[in-house]
Amino acid sequence: MSTRRITVIPGDGIGPSIIESAVAILDKAGCNFEYDYAQAGLCALEEEGNLLPERTLELIEQNGITLKGPLTTPVGTGFTSINVSLRKQFDLYGNVRPVRSFKGTKARYEDIDIITVRENTEGMYSGVGQKRSECGDSAEAMSVITREGATRIVKFAYELARREGRKKVTAVHKANIMKSTSGLFLEVAREVAKQYPDIESEEMIVDACCMNLVMYPERFDVIVTTNLFGDILSDLCAGLVGGLGMAPGANIGERAAIFEAVHGSAPDIAGKNIANPTSVILASIQMLEYLGMEDKAKAILDAVKDVIATGDRTTRDLGGSAGTDEFTQAILERL
Ligand SMILES: NC(=O)c1ccc[n+]([C@@H]2O[C@H](COP(=O)([O-])OP(=O)(O)OC[C@H]3O[C@@H](n4cnc5c(N)ncnc54)[C@H](O)[C@@H]3O)[C@@H](O)[C@H]2O)c1
Repeated sequence: MSTRRITVIPGDGIGPSIIESAVAILDKAGCNFEYDYAQAGLCALEEEGNLLPERTLELIEQNGITLKGPLTTPVGTGFTSINVSLRKQFDLYGNVRPVRSFKGTKARYEDIDIITVRENTEGMYSGVGQKRSECGDSAEAMSVITREGATRIVKFAYELARREGRKKVTAVHKANIMKSTSGLFLEVAREVAKQYPDIESEEMIVDACCMNLVMYPERFDVIVTTNLFGDILSDLCAGLVGGLGMAPGANIGERAAIFEAVHGSAPDIAGKNIANPTSVILASIQMLEYLGMEDKAKAILDAVKDVIATGDRTTRDLGGSAGTDEFTQAILERL
């Protein structure tokens, strides 16, 4: 089997330890990757004087595939979020955030299997026109939705649904109030839906969607929505299956893809060997599926499911008492 080079960004806080778990598991599963390690975030700022060093950008571009730990963006003026910068720089327009129920977690529901497809480059997070008035008493920001941006993300969601044998796509919007931006998104979603008669199409206002996700999560399959709504809804979905420790995310563009955990660098638990590495392990499973390595993806997923279901060597957030190391070791043994 030929080797494939992957860029790995351990990141900040709990990042290095959960990335170490994921890489050990990829190796044990026989994925045959070679890794180019690169820095970004607070650690890069401290060691290289730059949150996003040029070499890191080059490696992301060169290898095309990146596995990334969470990054800390220093609070204060002058620093834009590194994650937002990366998504913009590489035009990673498709943010795929799947959640599924795992037996053995203390989640409120069983049998949840929802994928949120979030537009990653436009909307309220495009950062356009952010300003405060001189007196500081008013503030404004601009939300930009384009027909091109909306079309490519809605098509992306339907293509994903078709590829994965999904039944339904729900377009989530607020077109009744935000008539220009959400209105354009909904108009495009309706046009694209006509091209996919094999898949059921549904539309839902974002507030109603939140209520329905909490009350009837089993009714959802694939959700497609704009940037801000997708960010919030996907965390809600993570809450349905046991929290942020169980939520991976893929950022997909034409020339690069970055796979990561949805959660942040968790500075409150960094260095304590208690972080749950599952999110980043699930992100590496997304990466394997993206690379067409479904057999490896399934082997790792089965091992993770098995360890969590057994419950005796899981991390605290999953109700166990094992450390990151021991939980990882349990998965390695299953593999
Ligand atoms: N993708 C990213 O790189 C990303 C995403 C979100 C936040 N951040 C950054 O992370 C930093 C911390 O943000 P925050 O505290 O708001 O959110 P966070 O997600 O880091 O932590 C929220 C809570 O969840 C817990 N938690 C998170 N991941 C966990 C895991 N794997 N196992 C067990 N518990 C876990 C933390 O201990 C904390 O109590 C900030 O600098 C923020 O900008 C980065």
